[in-house]
Amino acid sequence: MTKLDESAAKETLKSVDDPAFGKDVISHRIVKKVEVDGDQVSVRVEIPTPAYPKRDRDELARRIESALAEAGAGEVKIHQDVITAYQPPPSEKALLPGVKNIIAVAAGKGGVGKSTVAVNLALALQRHGATVGVLDADVFGPSMPQMLGPPQRHAATSQDPSQGQKITPAVHHGLKVISVGFFVNKDEAVVWRGPMVHKLLEQFLGEVEWGELDYLICDLPPGTGDVQLSLSQLIPLSGAVMVTTPQEVSIIDVVKGIAMFEKVEIPILGVVENMSYYACPACGHHDEIFAHGGGKRLAKESGVTHLGELPIDTRIRFGGDTGVPIVASAPDSENAGRFMELASKVALAAADRVLQLPVRSPRLAVIR
Ligand SMILES: Nc1ncnc2c1ncn2[C@@H]1O[C@H](COP(=O)(O)OP(=O)(O)OP(=O)(O)O)[C@@H](O)[C@H]1O
Ligand SMILES: [Mg+2]
Repeated sequence: MTKLDESAAKETLKSVDDPAFGKDVISHRIVKKVEVDGDQVSVRVEIPTPAYPKRDRDELARRIESALAEAGAGEVKIHQDVITAYQPPPSEKALLPGVKNIIAVAAGKGGVGKSTVAVNLALALQRHGATVGVLDADVFGPSMPQMLGPPQRHAATSQDPSQGQKITPAVHHGLKVISVGFFVNKDEAVVWRGPMVHKLLEQFLGEVEWGELDYLICDLPPGTGDVQLSLSQLIPLSGAVMVTTPQEVSIIDVVKGIAMFEKVEIPILGVVENMSYYACPACGHHDEIFAHGGGKRLAKESGVTHLGELPIDTRIRFGGDTGVPIVASAPDSENAGRFMELASKVALAAADRVLQLPVRSPRLAVIR
């Protein structure tokens, strides 16, 4: 057997696929450093999201270890760091310099569960260990004040003589949150025109002290209007999660939504089918109230990732109405588990895109 040196060890690792991405650990930049000392090989692995499933982390270590052992290593030491992957902004003056990934939750139609998915996705990412914020970009019908209940800290505005107005986000269930609903009386009808929407979003992005976040989840209004356009102009979105219900009318509108995002060069991270079926708590029977599987079919036809299905669940609805979403109120329930899995898939999809881009020097490195 030839002696294992650094380049031979790297060569060996080219044949090891990462279990979460299914891509080789060298070209997909999961393995950052390989050092050989005698017959001992040390490998530094960078896990690109805190939502990377634990079972895949263990499997990744096992695969690296066995490949190197087979190639002649006597001892293999693996060090794993979790560092959320992101694409550094091209300019120092970019809005949100400390936010690594901005993810929009969108749908073609109203009432399909965008806000429910947004808020539970944010909480699930946080449960995975990420630092998360929520931007309620539905300026026409903000849901976050209702869905997240009383805050741990209220949003506040202050004047800084050197920097102008500053907005401190509210904190709900550990998430930094900003919503027009915090500033406008909920019974007040506000007619937001395009330029006002743009200005407001600019303020929410530029004047809010978001600090350092792994993920900022943006809850969008339905359709393809001013908010979607302004956001795409103001910030580099990591991607959009499209929410649909199984019936044809919702799917047709999501197809239009996907086309619009593609036009403004926002990548689609995938489609999630909400209110997919109703599982009767008494007998366990699955009733497909709005038909079933439309999300999967849509994903296949449009070439986007199918991120999963969420059933109709009274606790999901109740959580939204009472200000304690299911991931916070019943974290060990089956459907909170589905949101945890959805969060992993979304975070992996965002990381996968970053890892395929050419390397730009990072200005921000949060090491856990
Ligand atoms: N999986 C689910 N099971 C039960 N109820 C749900 C589910 N998903 C959403 N709901 C409920 O459906 C209603 C609409 O959901 P939500 O407000 O999240 O939709 P939306 O797409 O954000 O609506 P809008 O277009 O008005 O912003 C809410 O009462 C919510 O609690
Ligand atoms: Mg909504």
